[in-house]
Amino acid sequence: MRNKNLQYVLGIESSCDETAAAILSVNKAGEVEELSNVISSQINIHKKYGGVVPEIAAREHVLNILPVINEALKKAKLAGPDLSALAVTTGPGLITSLICGVETAKALAYTWKKPLLAINHIEGHIYANFLTVNKKDVKFPAVILTVSGGHTTLLTMTKGGSISIVGETRDDAAGEAYDKGAKMLGLGYPGGPIISKLAKKYKESPNFSPNEEKIKLPRPMIDSPDLDFSFSGLKTALLYELKKDKNWENRKEEYSYYYQQAIIDVLIRKTIKATKKYKAQTVMLTGGVSANTQLRKEMGEEIEKNFSNKVSFFSPQLKHTTDNAAMIAMAAVFKLAKKKNWPIKNVSANSGAEL
Ligand code: KG4
Ligand code: ZN
Repeated sequence: MRNKNLQYVLGIESSCDETAAAILSVNKAGEVEELSNVISSQINIHKKYGGVVPEIAAREHVLNILPVINEALKKAKLAGPDLSALAVTTGPGLITSLICGVETAKALAYTWKKPLLAINHIEGHIYANFLTVNKKDVKFPAVILTVSGGHTTLLTMTKGGSISIVGETRDDAAGEAYDKGAKMLGLGYPGGPIISKLAKKYKESPNFSPNEEKIKLPRPMIDSPDLDFSFSGLKTALLYELKKDKNWENRKEEYSYYYQQAIIDVLIRKTIKATKKYKAQTVMLTGGVSANTQLRKEMGEEIEKNFSNKVSFFSPQLKHTTDNAAMIAMAAVFKLAKKKNWPIKNVSANSGAEL
């Protein structure tokens, strides 16, 4: 049932292998509540190929998108015409997957006579943090590390909401490194959660000794003067280590541990460097890899060690780390507020201006 005092934003996300829809409500004071967050994951379908197959992903989106949107509306106890605005991911991502979300959003916005906002997927990941933390409680400037299957990006954000990219991967993304490493180790897809589980098992086993580096892997670009990353060399180094080792199949936990540690060390070093350079008062993690418990733990400890309590550290709830549509709707809420288009009546219906 629609409440006249609330605005409702429907977010739609289909940039990779998750079909997602979510509805946020916003009250007059700008307080946001997540009414629904529906995700249909295609992981089980792509698993047997060891990664996302774009053509299959697009066809699955076509099948799932309307049921997912319907479920999001049902959970929020709303009907399409009750919405105040729609928001959809327009890139970056797999083009055939993106088209499915964009065309559906355009058709629905046209039918329901609602404004439609175009949202950048990385911007969505950034705002995933604000689904948990109130912007009023965040001190700026902030440094944000976006780590997912498609991106490894360091960004700064000012109080006014200006976002700048200050560092990026030059080749593979951190999540891609996890996925490709897992493939080499015969662990399946997606690699992040599996490698992280095996690494934890190794760390808790009697074979682990903190002072001994049993498998040496490089930390590419860790001391480079810029804030960029590179992970393809690490992947190649793992391949050569595995080729040398006849017993590697019995040491998968150990390899997972050292491989993960190499990724985490670089991510943390560069984030700390960016925090110092931009005198940031807050560090935020986001994206699929930010679900990683070890990364969260070590990042928190390093921030504490380097800045004591002068820098705050946030990471999103687990359900908001990997691709979801609540983050897309949240980015739209911020966008509307920034353009002073709040309440939404100031945006002309069907404007679709940014698409
Ligand atoms: O944000 P996301 O769902 O999609 C992209 O925008 O790319 O991120 C997916 C990536 C995959 O590479 C996956 O292996 C990684 O996030 N991932 C993790 C964990 N959970 C997912 N990486 C490390 N540790 C995890 N627990
Ligand atoms: Zn993503």
